[in-house]
Amino acid sequence: GTVVLAYSGGLDTSCILVWLKEQGYSVIAYLANIGQDEDFEAARKKAESLGATKVFIEDLRAEFVEDFIWPAIQANAVYEDRYLLGTAVARPCIGRRQVEIARREGAQFVSHGATGKGNDQIRFELTCYALYPEVKIIAPWRIPEFYNRFRGRKDLMEYAQQHGIPVPVTPKAPWSMDANLMHISYESGILENPKSHAPADLYLMTKNPEDAPSAPDVLEIEFKIGVPVKVTNVKEGISKDSPLDIFTYLNEIGGKHGVGRIDIVENRFIGMKSRGIYETPGGTILLNVHLDIEAFTMDKEVRRVKQGLGIKFSELVYNGFWYSPECDFLSVFKGQVYILGRESPKSLYNEELVSMDVQGDYDPCDASGFIRINAVRLREYHRLQGFPSIK
Ligand code: ARG
Ligand code: SIN
Repeated sequence: GTVVLAYSGGLDTSCILVWLKEQGYSVIAYLANIGQDEDFEAARKKAESLGATKVFIEDLRAEFVEDFIWPAIQANAVYEDRYLLGTAVARPCIGRRQVEIARREGAQFVSHGATGKGNDQIRFELTCYALYPEVKIIAPWRIPEFYNRFRGRKDLMEYAQQHGIPVPVTPKAPWSMDANLMHISYESGILENPKSHAPADLYLMTKNPEDAPSAPDVLEIEFKIGVPVKVTNVKEGISKDSPLDIFTYLNEIGGKHGVGRIDIVENRFIGMKSRGIYETPGGTILLNVHLDIEAFTMDKEVRRVKQGLGIKFSELVYNGFWYSPECDFLSVFKGQVYILGRESPKSLYNEELVSMDVQGDYDPCDASGFIRINAVRLREYHRLQGFPSIK
């Protein structure tokens, strides 16, 4: 059969590409550009050289902002009071195009490199099942023959060497990152100890607030129906008015001033606590501005109802239910403390359970059924509704 693999260009998904070929699949590599810093042409060549039958590099930046970040801003979406959902909103965007390619290319399978312990597997797969109910999903990190063979980075490196996969020359940061236009997240590795502080050089999108300029930038941001339509830097005389330009510019200004860093412990859908560090400069500016506009323009009781729905919406998005009847239903409605680490005798945080390096008391195979059961309703709903068309 043919499989469309969500390919990142990195070591894991390169090994997955070759491994899928070894299992007899013909592999289409799909790489979404959602604003991460990546040499896309180099990634294309790499995927081709590893034997991908086709390579699709898709620039999704504008639709990511308009169709996914903007609704999050409208909803004031924040998970567990602090996380602005930068990874959670990107997954349905990536998945939507992935199944579009799979349908177009007549591929029955899709695959991804998300682990069996996380949220991302659920978000990808619920999106794929919702928009392509007949699809078959291959999640190598939940397949014993795969994860028993690749027990750590060392095994991946060895496999890469044996199979002509270019191995990364720069040493890997001792944590895992997920970068897109909206944010960069950092977790795993040395960050799994919830008490240890993030090193100062971890952050890539934002300046350390201590090194930020003392002189403020003054922005005027114009909103229409809950989304920004124009941003003007009053002193600099700079103006932006396309969604992508607006958001990119706010990232630049927020980054310059060290806006939008958080270090939190959150509850994954799967039920474990995990520690994550996030920087969301543009998103943090917009959240604050939008809250202020709502306070200014919205009826008191309407605002309260909307606030409750926003919390529900955030939970749905976090858990992977972007394409669900309840999310569709909700979409119809239209200062600074830094935490560095934590410790408690009553902590429910289990380092072994959450770790990407050891299995702990957790069987990744269990996630397959969990996701499929959650998808039952979404598949029926979208079969009936029809599928969103892509521009
Ligand atoms: N914990 C965050 C979330 O669940 C970030 C996940 C980051 N994903 C990754 N593949 N590094 O949304
Ligand atoms: C992963 O498991 O691939 C990253 C973490 C997550 O999805 O929550």
